Order: sequence, then C-alpha cells, then structure tokens
Amino acid sequence: MTEEEAKKRIEELRKLIEYHNWRYYVLDSPEISDAEYDALMRELLELEEKFPQFVTPDSPTQRVGAPPLEIFPTYRHRVPMLSLQNAFSEEELIAFDKRIKRFLGMPESERVEYCAELKMDGLAVSLVYENGVFTHGSTRGDGFEGEEVTPNLRTIRSIPLRINTPDPPSFIEVRGEVIMHKRDFEALNKQRAEAGEPLFANPRNAAAGSVRQLDSSITAQRKLDIFCYGVGGCEGYEFQTQYQILETLRDWGFKVNPYFRLCKGIEEVIEYCKEWMEKHHELPYETDGAVVKVNSLSLQEELGTLARSPRWAIAFKFPAEQGITQVEDIIVQVGRTGTLTPVAVLTPVEVGGVTISRATLHNEDEIRRLGVKIKDWVVVQRAGEVIPEVVAVVTSRRTGEEKEFQMPDRCPVCGSEVVRLPDEVAYRCINYSCPAQVKERIYHFASRDAMNIEGLGKEWVDKLVDVGLLKDSADIYFLKLWDLLKLERMGEKLARKLLGNIEKSKNNELYRLIFALGIRHVGESTARLLAQHFRSLDRLMDASLEEISQIPGIGRVVGESIYRFFREPHNRELIRKLGEAGVKMAEEEAVVPGEKPLEGQRIVFTGGLRSMERSEAEEIVAKLGGIPTSSVSKNTTLVVVGENPGSKYQKALELGIKTINEDEFLEMIRPYVEV
Ligand code: IVH
Repeated sequence: MTEEEAKKRIEELRKLIEYHNWRYYVLDSPEISDAEYDALMRELLELEEKFPQFVTPDSPTQRVGAPPLEIFPTYRHRVPMLSLQNAFSEEELIAFDKRIKRFLGMPESERVEYCAELKMDGLAVSLVYENGVFTHGSTRGDGFEGEEVTPNLRTIRSIPLRINTPDPPSFIEVRGEVIMHKRDFEALNKQRAEAGEPLFANPRNAAAGSVRQLDSSITAQRKLDIFCYGVGGCEGYEFQTQYQILETLRDWGFKVNPYFRLCKGIEEVIEYCKEWMEKHHELPYETDGAVVKVNSLSLQEELGTLARSPRWAIAFKFPAEQGITQVEDIIVQVGRTGTLTPVAVLTPVEVGGVTISRATLHNEDEIRRLGVKIKDWVVVQRAGEVIPEVVAVVTSRRTGEEKEFQMPDRCPVCGSEVVRLPDEVAYRCINYSCPAQVKERIYHFASRDAMNIEGLGKEWVDKLVDVGLLKDSADIYFLKLWDLLKLERMGEKLARKLLGNIEKSKNNELYRLIFALGIRHVGESTARLLAQHFRSLDRLMDASLEEISQIPGIGRVVGESIYRFFREPHNRELIRKLGEAGVKMAEEEAVVPGEKPLEGQRIVFTGGLRSMERSEAEEIVAKLGGIPTSSVSKNTTLVVVGENPGSKYQKALELGIKTINEDEFLEMIRPYVEV
C-alpha cells in the first residue's frame, strides 16, 4: 500500500468507526456487530502503526492510552459556567415568570416561550472544539476556571472527537453533564465492595470521581455517558434559540437528552415539571429536577445574569426521593460510647432504585416528634447520599394494631442500666464492659487509621469478645497462638500472621495510640497535636486541664473530654496494661530538635505519593512542627497534591488555598529530613 492509499483508507476507517460509535453510544442503535466493529478498529490500528505520521489526536484509536498526568492543568472558560437559581414549587415558577416579564417590560398576559429540559445529576463539563476537532475538555471548577481533563473525556464514547458537519464553527464550547447510568453505578460499587474498596455514595459522585482521575486508563474502565445541553463561547455560528441549540448539537453528533420541550407560557412549563416529577424515577440515570430557560437568545441577553446565575433560567428541583412502607419493628443499636440509637426495621421498599430495609430514627425525641409506632406505615426518604430516614407517619393507614415504642431502660445488649445525661438527647448504656461497646472500641482501636492491625477486622473481634478472650483493647496484646487456634476457621498460618501484625503495632507512632484510645472528640489530627505536644502518654495522662486546653487547635470542650477520659480508672488501667504489654508510649524528640520550619502550617495531602506512604509524609510534617490534617478548610495553609487527587484538591482550589505537587513537597522538606 502506498502512503497515499494508506492515508485515504485511514480517513475512511475513522469516519466509519466514528459513525458506528455514534450509532452505538449516542443513538443506542448499532448497525453492525461488535465483531465487525472490532475488525474495523484493528485495521485502523495496524495502518496507524505502519504509518505513524498519520496518527492524529482525533483518531478513534486515541480515545485510550494517554500517559497519566502529574496534576490537572487549569483551564479558563471563555464564557463562565454559571449555576442556577432554584425553585421548589409551582408558586416559585410563577414568580420567576413574573420577574422575567417585569424585567422585559412585557404585559402580564403575554406568554414567554421557554425551553424545558431535564436536569441531569452528574458532573458539569465544557468541551472545546476548534475547527470541528475536540481539543480541550474541562470541569466547571469555580465557574471561571476548571481542571483540564481532556484525556479522560476522550475515553467517553458518546463525546464526539469531531463535530459531524462539513461546516463547523471555528470555535465552540459545548456544555454538558457527564453521568453514570444507575445500573453501571451499581455494578461498579459491587465490584468495589468485592475488592474491599470504598463505595461511591451515588452515581453523581461516581461520575465525578471517574472524570477527576489523573490516570485516564481508570476513567476508561468506568462506564460514563454525557448529555449536552448548551453552548458557551462560539465563533463562526449563530444560534437564535435554546431549542435550536439542542437540535443543532444533536444533528452535529452530540448526545442530547431527548426529553426537552418547547413551552408557551409558564403553565406549560409547570405541566412539564409535574409530569417529570412523577416519571423521572423510571429513567435509567438520575435527574434531580428540570431546567427552564427563556428560549430566545436575544431575550436571554437582554435579561443578563446575576452574580453567579442567569436571570433567564431556573432549576425546578424534584422533591427528595420517597417511598411508603411498614415499620416491622424498632430495634436499638449500641455505639462505642454506649449511645442507644433506635432503628426502624422496614418491609423492604424501593426508593429511587435502591432497596431500603432499615432507617435510622436518630433518638427518642425524634420518635416522639414523628409519633411513629411499631406497625405504622411511614414515608421514608433517601435524599442524595444521606442514610435513609423516616420523615412522616401515614396516620390514615392506622388499624389500631400499632404499638408504642418504649426506649428500653436496660441496655439491649448487656442488660445494664440506661441513663439520659442532662443536655443530651441520647440515652447511654453506662456499663463500660457492655459487649457492644467493647466490640466497637476494639474495632476502632485496631482500625487502619488507629493502630492499623491488619487482619483484625470486625468478624474476628466479634468472635474474640464472644468467647471472652478480649475484654478490652489491651487484651489484644496478650493473645496467644493456642487461644487463636480455638476459634473456628482460624488456621495456624493465619494466626501467626495476625500475631505478627499485633506485635508490629506495638511500635506505632504515638499519635496512633492516642487516636486508638477512642477519646470523644479526639480525631486523628487532634491526636497528632497531643502527641507532638506531650511526646509521651504518661505526660498527657497527668496533664492539667489548663495545659491541654491551651494547646492551639484544642480548646475547652475537647480539652475537657481529654482530661475527663484520663480521670476514669478503667482508662488508666487500660493504659497501664498496654504499657505492660510493651506498646510504645513515648516518642523521641523530633529529628531536628528546635527546628520547626513548618510550625503553624496546617497541611493536607490528597492523592497518592510516589516516594512514600501518606502516613510517612504526615509523620514528617508533624516532626517539622506542622499539623497534618485530613480535610481541607479555610484554616488549611497548604495542600500537597499527589496522583489521582480527590475532592480535597477541588476544595483547595475553591478556597484559594496554596497547592504544591509531590516534587515541590520533597524540595520543601529535604533540608531537614532524609528523603
Ligand atoms: S443549564 C447558565 N441545563 O446543573 C445555565 N444545566 O447549576 C447553566 N445541569 O452542574 C446550566 N442538566 O451541569 C443546564 N439541562 C441542563 C442541565 C444542567 C444538568 C447541571 C449543570 C450544573 C447545574 C447548574
């Protein structure tokens, strides 16, 4: 084959493949079999391999395989990506319509033409096409600047790499929502659960998490889709209406949600919203409302924008997803500090595609407020990512068979007395040795962020407590091989491994031990502050309330909780036992005594580091006087961005907090520690 012929065939193949891509991913109606498609793709790959001079970024072979990024470059939107005002009722829609007419000086009786669309619940993105070729894709970011995620968006097959028209605009920003279908979300979470990876709370988070990956090969494995709904900056093409924008985008090969409608007057808009409020659950993806836009672009321009949202559009939010079911029973769960939480056991019901069989009732006050009884029919709600709750009782369905729930005056697990402390809504089991509390305390003690005893998960803790081998966390260090071998399904190999991990944890950093004790209000970063200040558990244990509370970042409430914890005889006894077992209780001085170059800095890490574990990096920060913190807030002074950073990176950008990459971090610490 000559170069000339190869070039021609490559062009042909690309067109064919993109056409079949569009049939399959955009229209959902393929014309050829997978095998035929694969054959075309293979032919193209082979030709491109032989004639690499013809490989271009818009070739369908280039959708996957870009090298991982270090950090996302920022991308400035030509036209900002605004947000929307919200309406929650018919009245608010009518008020919106009135405002528009008043602003435009139109008579009240006149009907404004609106374009009504579904509001997809995913991640907003902007796709830039230059002379018809997809060149940049970015997230919304703060509306003005987003993160450039082009390699990731290229992996989404329903995003065209070329605009399908002979005469494309010279420049256009197409706006859309990247989503994950409900079934793909469920499959992804199932797979993650099996791999022991954390689950995504909802399809929106899964879509956002998948797009915001520094390694596009991960995005490529996720099944993502897009619906395009608008245009930002545009040169070389004139649109007149929103309706025309949607139709044109569709003609050009973009995926546009099919359920948009032209409405004459707000009454037709209200009809559309009501209709979809009922029907939207049936869609295979999540929508959280409808977006209503003034159809004429010249009127849109006249109306202009407020600070962050246009005057010409509004989002009508669907009410949270609800279902009706019966309360079979109300049970009580006991937490680590003995708190009793009533939980409704429900006849399983599907709410927005998820089966709910339990819902928290929070506490007794809440039960009283709702007036809920056992056997009552209730409305349960799943709002976004929060755990399901009971929101109301359907009193009209009462039969007289319902039974009042009584908060038990004895702990359902150990039978000891239950008290309600003044100023607290919760009841507590005050038996420190209550097996439910003991188990919760030991789960926490052994958990990853605390003593990190690998292999000592909930199931083994439950068994060890049940057979009486563990009465407190210190007992872990007195377990013997023959003790473990008595347990069902525990072999010698596993037992030895577990004992090894237990032994290893004795030398943990001090902050881990302090965190593992489970002192109320003491999270990981407070534990670090305490370890840094006292350097030994003995000194912390005997510190005065004043000394503890004066440590910057601690304060009175937390200080009191810590002080009180160490006044409890059983806590002092636990610490004595841990010391006796040989658990390290003090830390040598910092590597560079006196030098605290990071003093006062609150540093957050996000994403993976290449050169060390995150815990090591945090350790170094602490040694140099800084405070490693787990979440980004306005008090954060620096965010170190590793590979595949999470939402903390986004948050840092939003709050304008300084970010540095791993190399910059290493440079910063190198004068003080060996790395
Ligand atoms: S129009 C200025 N249309 O909703 C107009 N937005 O707050 C801006 N969204 O995350 C948006 N479906 O990505 C528009 N049909 C639709 C939409 C839609 C979902 C998202 C958008 C952004 C949020 C707007």
